[in-house]
Formats: sequence, C-alpha cells, structure tokens
Amino acid sequence: MKNIISANQFTKDEVEKILSRAEIMEQGVKSGKAEKLLKDKIVACIFFEPSTRTRLSFETAALKLGAQVISAENAMENSSAHKGETIEDTTKILCSYADIIVIRHPKAGTLDAAAKVATKPLINAGDGANQHPTQGFLDLYTIKKEQGRLTNLNIGFGGDLLNSRTLRSLLPFLRFYEGNKFYFISPKELELPREFIKGLKENGVNFEELRSLEEKLPELDVLYMTRVQKERFPDEVSYNKVKDLFIFKKEHLKTLKQSAIIMHPLPKINEIEVEVDADPRAAYFRQAENGLYVRMALLCYALGL
Ligand code: NCD
Repeated sequence: MKNIISANQFTKDEVEKILSRAEIMEQGVKSGKAEKLLKDKIVACIFFEPSTRTRLSFETAALKLGAQVISAENAMENSSAHKGETIEDTTKILCSYADIIVIRHPKAGTLDAAAKVATKPLINAGDGANQHPTQGFLDLYTIKKEQGRLTNLNIGFGGDLLNSRTLRSLLPFLRFYEGNKFYFISPKELELPREFIKGLKENGVNFEELRSLEEKLPELDVLYMTRVQKERFPDEVSYNKVKDLFIFKKEHLKTLKQSAIIMHPLPKINEIEVEVDADPRAAYFRQAENGLYVRMALLCYALGL
C-alpha cells in the first residue's frame, strides 16, 4: 500500500514499472479483457475543486478494474467541509469506508496533512498549484507513446507556469532521462518562481526561459500548453491582464515540426485556437484518453496489487 502524493517521491525504476503497467492496462481495455484486479474494492473520489477528466477517468479506471466507486464532487459545498470539518477528520472517515481515497483540493499541502491520519492509500488528484502526480504520469506516458522515446527531446512549456501543477508533476519525471532540453515560455507575470529556477540550476537541468511562443517553435518536439489558472488569481482584473497573452494559433502550425506534438492537460480555454484541434500533431485528446490507462495502473500500484 502506497500513497501517491508527489511526482518527486518516485524513482526512475518505479516510474518505468508504472508506464509498463499502463501499457498492459491499455491493451486490456482495448481488447475488452482488463483483469478485474480491484474486485470487492471501494474507491472513494472526493473533489473539493472542479474536475472533468481526472475524476471521471479515475472512476472509469476503478470500474474497468471491477471496483465500486463512492464519490463526492463539489465537496467544498456538498461535503461537511462546508460546515467546517477538517481534512484530517474527513480523511479518517473515508478510510473507514473505502479501500483507497482520491482527493483534489485547492490548498497546497492538503494531501500531506491527510496522509498523517490516513489508514488507506491516498492519491493526490491535484493540491492547489503544488502537485498533480497522476497527470505527470499520463503526460509522460503520452510523450513516450507519441514520440517513441523520453530522451533527447526539446520540450516547451507555454502559458501560466507560475501556477501550473501539471508542469511541476511532469518535469521531475522527464529529468530522469538524458538529453532533454526545456524551454519555459511565459510572460513575466506568469514565469516560474525564482526559487524553482534556482533549484533547476543547482541540479544542472538544461533549460532556457523565453518570452515569445514563436522563438523556438521550429526546434520543439513537444509543446505543452497550459491554461491560465484563473482560480489562483487574487482578482478578475489581474487575471484579465494576462489571460490572452499566449495563444497557439493555426498559423503557428506552419513552423512546428511535422514530428512534433502539442499537449495540454485540458481544459483549454483560449490558449489554443480551435482550428488546431484537427491537426494530427494536436495530441491533447489522446493525452486525456491515456489518463484512463495510467490511472488504472496507479490504482493497482497504490493498493500494492
Ligand atoms: C489540470 C489541473 O487540474 O491542474 N487539469 C487536469 O487535471 N487535466 C489543468 C488545468 O486545470 O488547467
């Protein structure tokens, strides 16, 4: 039994085992022969922040594996959190009902607090701007599947890097592999915190920070766009100032390599023009589908199965 709280907790060996397991899950689902490894288990999903893909792919993953699901969506309003119950108390209760608990919460560090009292494995489905490790896994799986390798890639992250928990969850995995170069592309207001950059420098990570989306586009193998995280802004005015600064347009497709892919954790708002969706390099819907296979593998990993 293991918690999944942060991408930083994993070794390269564990990451590779999980990716291989996800491949088996994909084959199982596609051939209609997924093993019911979670038969008689109950998976609880409690989401204190909105979600479409993460919650529903976790629930689908649980059902495909033969588990049953109990679920609290909009839990800030609809659970006892609304009455002021602490996450510790809520976690204790869920652990007495379910075999594994998937939690999303707006506050960074919530899962660490919950883990102190949990008696069942916990999975972090996103805690504020901090971590979203299961997304990191599905993103890594997608790059491997689409590009055939995880080494020697030029990877650009574009948009709201300041608040992106998905970047913070993919980067630690990509750093296990040689020859990758990272381009952090954002306006000044949305750049990565200086402390984070300092840590990358100290660890010898190969990266550049850029202010223009176009500058290195022809060199990229992966462009990972992110949504400006409206819910993390103090007010509407500061959000409106930056929300449309970086848009990947149809015309940008001309300069992007034929072998490149465009990724996005979704939901996308304006940061990718809708005409881009039809281009085969737009990988984001395939990426979201991969979430199902990867979360099946992660449910088994956390339960020690
Ligand atoms: C991401 C998240 O919640 O961090 N969405 C997701 O899980 N696919 C990205 C986002 O909301 O912008």
